[in-house]
Amino acid sequence: MKTIGVLTSGGDAPGMNAAIRAVVRTGIDKGIKVMGIQRGYNGLLNGEIFEMNRTSVSDIIQRGGTILRTARSDEFKTVEGRKKAYNVLKVFGIEGLIVIGGDGSFTGAQKLSDEFDVKTIGIPGTIDNDLAYTDYTIGFDTALNTVLDAINKLRDTSTSHERVSIVEVMGRRCGDIALFTGLAGGAEYIIIPEREYNFDNLCRTIIEGKVRGKVHNLILLAEGVGGAEDMAKKIEEVTGIQTRATVLGHIQRGGSPTAFDRILASRLGARAVELLVEGKSKRVVGIKDNKVIDVDITEALNMKKESNDNLYDLAQILSY
Ligand code: F6P
Repeated sequence: MKTIGVLTSGGDAPGMNAAIRAVVRTGIDKGIKVMGIQRGYNGLLNGEIFEMNRTSVSDIIQRGGTILRTARSDEFKTVEGRKKAYNVLKVFGIEGLIVIGGDGSFTGAQKLSDEFDVKTIGIPGTIDNDLAYTDYTIGFDTALNTVLDAINKLRDTSTSHERVSIVEVMGRRCGDIALFTGLAGGAEYIIIPEREYNFDNLCRTIIEGKVRGKVHNLILLAEGVGGAEDMAKKIEEVTGIQTRATVLGHIQRGGSPTAFDRILASRLGARAVELLVEGKSKRVVGIKDNKVIDVDITEALNMKKESNDNLYDLAQILSY
């Protein structure tokens, strides 16, 4: 393998830059030419490709976002689009492609390798932590810390006003951001798609808490369940306690990556290059029990994420 390409695709995540850095420097260390592809699969289709060197990735390990930029591409979802992408890769002499992104980006890589002679390796970069084959995705830990920081601040004002505070967090259909920050932030209630919730129970918990002397109530709501504004109105109607909604939105995707995300990204980036050197393709790298693993991409995409019942139950016990 003489030349490889690297791109970031889908929603950005803190730590993507650390992963790019690891890919570029490991590749160069192994005598491989590394091409950076800008704006995800869109940039690939447009030939937005340039050679990277050690200094192209200087001073980025601490930066959020992605220096390669990112995009979601409709054209690449078609077989004609992928054929065009394959031709572009051939023109640039790229034999192996490393894709940093989430499940949609992995599906693109899977199809490209199925249909054409290109080797692909996926690195999980998404704040959602919604990929079943890996314990953690790059960006999740930083997003947790961003949410926690916001929760701590909300707690101050909610306590002063003795209000209920609902915080809506990202995650698409996955409740991990809400669950982990709910536990770490001492939330009274966590609402995630993986667990059924009962509105009457929620209101009863709030009222009982008030009777026991709780000065405020914090509810962590995963976006996959519903909107915080509507829920706040309903809670206020039923409990009579002032309720405010905060939608954290894209702030969760920014910021300097935590040590955990930088180390994870560095390990996974390096391993992705090694796999290409070993002649592997259609694999995704991840972490299980603190060991770097790689899994067949199709198998990884078909795996169903287990729900974290233990954490959810623990958060419930501790919130009382
Ligand atoms: O997948 C990452 C994510 O931030 C999700 O948590 C969220 O639902 C979505 O992307 C938002 O997408 P966009 O950046 O297109 O608004």
